[in-house]
Amino acid sequence: MGRMTFIEHDGTRHEVEIEADKSLMQHAADNMVPGIDADCGGECACGTCHVIVDEQWFGKTGAINSNEKQMLEMTPEGAPTSRLACQIEVTDALDGLVVHLPEFQM
Ligand code: FES
Repeated sequence: MGRMTFIEHDGTRHEVEIEADKSLMQHAADNMVPGIDADCGGECACGTCHVIVDEQWFGKTGAINSNEKQMLEMTPEGAPTSRLACQIEVTDALDGLVVHLPEFQM
């Protein structure tokens, strides 16, 4: 399995191993990556798992459905490559993925 990197607002990097059948949010939680609150547990209902995907990886993170789009519109630190980590299903195709964490969640 591959690896991916979360980068905190202050530049602190967290490299985690990809595990099958888990969302990006679950990877962060299971590896104690700070900065992703995930208050709703992955139901696309809280917006507190916001990440900013590195530009070169954005196209590989899958489609954004209307629920996620609505949540992202309310995110204070939204960016063109914003995603909700609970909506990204991690596969080996994301080996090397880099995502940035906002300073604050909602
Ligand atoms: S965990 Fe609540 S929207 Fe992702």
